[in-house]
Amino acid sequence: MVFIGSWCGVTATLCHGACVEVDSDTEAVASEGFKLGCISCKKRGEVPSVAVVNWFFKGSDEVDYSPLYTYENKQGEVLDPRFYERLAWNGSKQTLDLQDGSIYILNVTYNDTGTYVCTFERTLMYSNYEFQINTTKLIHLNVVPKLTRSMASILSEVMMYVSIIGLQFWLVVEMIYCYRKISVAGEEALRESE
Ligand SMILES: *[C@@H]1O[C@H](CO)[C@@H](O)[C@H](O)[C@H]1NC(C)=O
Ligand SMILES: *[C@@H]1O[C@H](CO)[C@@H](O)[C@H](O)[C@H]1NC(C)=O
Ligand SMILES: *[C@@H]1O[C@H](CO)[C@@H](O)[C@H](O)[C@H]1NC(C)=O
Ligand SMILES: *[C@@H]1O[C@H](CO)[C@@H](O)[C@H](O)[C@H]1NC(C)=O
Repeated sequence: MVFIGSWCGVTATLCHGACVEVDSDTEAVASEGFKLGCISCKKRGEVPSVAVVNWFFKGSDEVDYSPLYTYENKQGEVLDPRFYERLAWNGSKQTLDLQDGSIYILNVTYNDTGTYVCTFERTLMYSNYEFQINTTKLIHLNVVPKLTRSMASILSEVMMYVSIIGLQFWLVVEMIYCYRKISVAGEEALRESE
């Protein structure tokens, strides 16, 4: 799922028109930007619809969700003072028929750790009636310091050096062994010829 998503990101034109519900990343790096992903695909592609996206946030030490961001009629508004000037719309552009409701945090702080909820209120407009569908997605965001690497990548680098050094050591041992063998053979040949 993640693979398809990043592939679509690179080759957006190939995926044009196709909607894939990729899960958001959940690990942000402090002081960097981070995209809170939220995609809700319209199941009935042929039916025109209008959607409103709302985001809610609950800090790691908080009990209740508070309104964070709302996007309606091609306009977004930041509702939480803690996020003023720090949020940008990263979802569907130039349409009322939203399928991507992602937002972008410009400069992540440790206080952004917590749970984010994204809701789509989609109204499907059939010729003689309207039908409303709500979808909700939950993201648990963890903020990590800059330049932390996973243990796995550190371990694999250490293993690489260990194997390089090990191979060189083996090469030296092998060279000494060969040199001795050759010199012994040489001495024997000398003795025989005397
Ligand atoms: C991000 O926030 C930190 C701490 O609030 C600040 O020191 C830094 O300058 C900010 N970076 C940008 C690019 O705004
Ligand atoms: C998301 O918003 C940020 C900040 O405005 C921008 O730099 C970035 O290119 C946007 N990404 C997408 C995919 O729209
Ligand atoms: C994070 O929250 C604490 C406690 O509410 C506050 O003192 C601090 O200034 C906040 N830090 C940032 C970078 O917003
Ligand atoms: C969807 O959410 C809106 C706003 O919270 C609510 O008024 C409406 O009844 C909900 N519709 C459905 C079908 O749950």
